Amino acid sequence: MAVSYKELGLVNTREMFKKAMAGKYAIPAYNFNNMEQLQAIIMACIESNSPVILQVSSGARKYANQILLKHMARGAMEIIKDAGSNIPVALHLDHGDTYELCVSCIESGFSSVMIDGSSKPFEENAALTKKVVEYAHKYDVTVEGELGVLAGIEDEVSHEASHYTHPEEVQAFVSKTGVDSLAISIGTSHGAYKFKLKPGESVPPLRFDILEETERKVPGFPIVLHGSSSVPQEYVDMINKYGGNLENTAGVPEDQLRKATKSAVCKINIDSDGRLVMTAKIREVFANSPKEFDPRKYLGPARAELLKMYKHKNEHVLGSAGKA
Ligand code: G3H
Ligand code: 13P
Ligand code: ZN
Repeated sequence: MAVSYKELGLVNTREMFKKAMAGKYAIPAYNFNNMEQLQAIIMACIESNSPVILQVSSGARKYANQILLKHMARGAMEIIKDAGSNIPVALHLDHGDTYELCVSCIESGFSSVMIDGSSKPFEENAALTKKVVEYAHKYDVTVEGELGVLAGIEDEVSHEASHYTHPEEVQAFVSKTGVDSLAISIGTSHGAYKFKLKPGESVPPLRFDILEETERKVPGFPIVLHGSSSVPQEYVDMINKYGGNLENTAGVPEDQLRKATKSAVCKINIDSDGRLVMTAKIREVFANSPKEFDPRKYLGPARAELLKMYKHKNEHVLGSAGKA
């Protein structure tokens, strides 16, 4: 049975982006796959009074089950209300790759969808995006498109041929499709290995020139940054200390994200940092308490650390704290 996101108490991203653009901050878009991640995101956003986009990849949807996801979103909204909070929450499909998947998500209560046609030729991408927009707007669901290809891995698909967004294509794409926001490629990438650095080298700056040129082409239009985990060294070190093996990791420095929030960037996607925090804390418990076999005793500390990390992002990186 189809359900509208409005019945679940969710909102689309339109108003969120309008306020974020005016207030020069970005809305956090955090991916979740399980209960502990969702609890940490919700509690962090309640405690920091931040709007939030709960983001589900198609892989996460398969993992967690779309029926359960719908009820998890409903539960999250009840928890927020029960806590006396009314932070705006959107439930968003991350990297939707087909029209049918977007329709199915809209029917199961998503308030926002991404149709990612970025690996297709321009006209094909625009036609697919327009088709999704026409369906989604009938239900007041907002749509994110993408132009330019990020390096890295999305849903187990690795993009060898990444390329930056061409700002001169942006205006035509936005007007042809009617899309509500646009993800662009300015040097970020998915996963924990964003930059190949030689010893002593530091992370190169993002292509803010492409971002500025894009803004000039579509003034006031909401821009999205994917692949924006910072890959904090303290968690990589903790993973390696307790038996993991992550080498040559690199993320987007927090000051570059902070700078991006002052522009038309209204949504910043973060998934890998949550994975790193969880893995680090679980490994720590396993290493220090080898007799422990109650999942609550290792998932609990992981959830507490996640909460801390998300609050830090809201307060010190995205600037969304206090903006609900
Ligand atoms: O963009 C990719 C996200 O990090 C989702 O990753 O497809 O492994 O759930 P996933
Ligand atoms: P990260 O891998 O940098 O967390 O990016 C997540 C993302 O873009 C989800 O769409
Ligand atoms: Zn992404």
